[in-house]
Amino acid sequence: MCGIVGYIGQDQSQEILLKGLEKLEYRGYDSAGLALLNDDGVYVSKVKGRIAALREAVDENKKATMGIGHTRWATHGAPSHENAHPHQSASGQFTLVHNGVVENYMEVREAYLPNVAMKSETDTEIVVQLIEHLNEQMNDVAAAFRKAVDLLKGSYAIALIDSQNPETIYVAKNKSPLLIGLGDGFNVVASDSMAMLQVTDQFLELMDKETVIVQRDAVTIQKPDGSKVDRDPFTAELDATDIEKGMYPHFMLKEIDEQPFVIRKIIQEYQNENDEIKLDPEIRQAMKECDRIYIIAAGTSYHAGLLGKQFIEKLANIPVEVHVASEFSYNMPLLSEKPLFVYISQSGETADSRSVLVQTKELGHPALTLTNVPGSTLSRESDYTMHLHAGPEIAVASTKAYTAQMAVLAILAVDTARAKGIELEFDPMQELGIVANAMEALTDQKEAVEELASEFLPTTRNCFFIGRGVDYYVGLEGALKLKEISYIQAEGFAGGELKHGTIALIEEGTPVIGLATQEKVNLSIRGNIQEVEARGANSCIITMKGLEKDGDNFIIPKVHELLTPLVSVVPMQLISYYAALHRDCDVDKPRNLAKSVTVE
Ligand code: F6R
Repeated sequence: MCGIVGYIGQDQSQEILLKGLEKLEYRGYDSAGLALLNDDGVYVSKVKGRIAALREAVDENKKATMGIGHTRWATHGAPSHENAHPHQSASGQFTLVHNGVVENYMEVREAYLPNVAMKSETDTEIVVQLIEHLNEQMNDVAAAFRKAVDLLKGSYAIALIDSQNPETIYVAKNKSPLLIGLGDGFNVVASDSMAMLQVTDQFLELMDKETVIVQRDAVTIQKPDGSKVDRDPFTAELDATDIEKGMYPHFMLKEIDEQPFVIRKIIQEYQNENDEIKLDPEIRQAMKECDRIYIIAAGTSYHAGLLGKQFIEKLANIPVEVHVASEFSYNMPLLSEKPLFVYISQSGETADSRSVLVQTKELGHPALTLTNVPGSTLSRESDYTMHLHAGPEIAVASTKAYTAQMAVLAILAVDTARAKGIELEFDPMQELGIVANAMEALTDQKEAVEELASEFLPTTRNCFFIGRGVDYYVGLEGALKLKEISYIQAEGFAGGELKHGTIALIEEGTPVIGLATQEKVNLSIRGNIQEVEARGANSCIITMKGLEKDGDNFIIPKVHELLTPLVSVVPMQLISYYAALHRDCDVDKPRNLAKSVTVE
């Protein structure tokens, strides 16, 4: 969702800000803008649409060594030029960018700004007008800034510039991610270290409710009570080339292809020199001690959670419930006596999951987060973290993070089983090695999948995925991938449920993709396929070596039955990719979606 960048230093800031915004494009946005400050005053440029349009709109001759920039994902008010950030106060003295949602913006407006005419429909404009209003009373910008953020309820990451002071960017954060990057003679602000890796790899984390004065040679962090905070920077462990597309036309295709390497990296990271599972002993203990696991996640991560339940229940014999984060917040089930909460989140920033984490921490329950971003909010606020080691995932549609989540969950399940003295014949590292090879064999068959996609999904309005058991869960993920990037209305169904309603939707030519990778349900799902074919469906069967029948469309290599989802999802990802490509969709940046969903 929204992204923020800021720069104050010696160099020309416009290009640094534009490059930074380009690196934040992956988060999803619908408008963008920047503000530069020099001796002539503030220059603001903003557009509805992509950063490429902003590049065309800006005056490239504007020189300024400080500025702020923003990508906006609309919450209050439609995507438009007026609602795009930066927003300015009535006099033009203050210019501000903001991520998040100010929940009490109407109350603030009524209490402090009843006579101020607003130019936009955003909650953000209230904040910048409030700062101006408070500064008129206090005549101290830093104090007015602190007072203003103290009055705000909700989530925010804010960067503010004052046209009368080109030496300072004022920054604040609550619940929304924001980092300060440190340099020699310059400092930067960024929602994500990726945006500013171009100039530094040294970053300072910010905690909720802190405010920061960012200058060329100094960064001062303050707690809400005004006390100063000393904090050591961390080194962003990203290689700038990790976030480039290289020879690939799209990040999604690159990330699909990276999956075998990610699985091998996970094997390396979670194995010690004696070939034992390497895991924080406290996580092992927490898993062993709990009487029930509650997996909390959203979207694709939720689908990984459904498979995590299979691994943990089957291997470690612990009951598991899997919950959609946004539902759990309002509808908490009766909890067991010793629950362990497991949060699965690629970004580690999903507001819905975080809201559950806040609630369960208040109840005193331990939390483990599986994430691709170890310094993220969910990771910091949980008791324990397991890193997914998938490398940055830039395409909005999650691929390699999903398979990484399943691999890490399988390792966790086996480790827990062993810690509980359960004997298993299943060697997760060996089996994951076989999975990595199988994935490689599949990513080498892109042409066949492309053909399949153009045969089954050229102009269709909808598409169904059916499976039983774990194949059903992979079908849910296949459907989500297809709908989010190709905009084909796609749904995943349990094969057995078809007759209970869904089959009414099948008509001549309806594409139905059937997954048949599990021996015990192979025949029943094939029966379901025949039922839809009898009603005119255009069916396609994805099966596993050893279970294939004449006429099957795609055969995945043989892997351990428990781990088939890691492999059978690869053709699904590729089918979605090619379907989107054939329909001229923006594969990496699908409409209306954001990579990091930081509002509830
Ligand atoms: C779909 C997708 C989303 C995310 C969901 C949760 O491809 O990426 O469904 O899985 O928004 O995000 P994280 O995993 O960052 O919590």
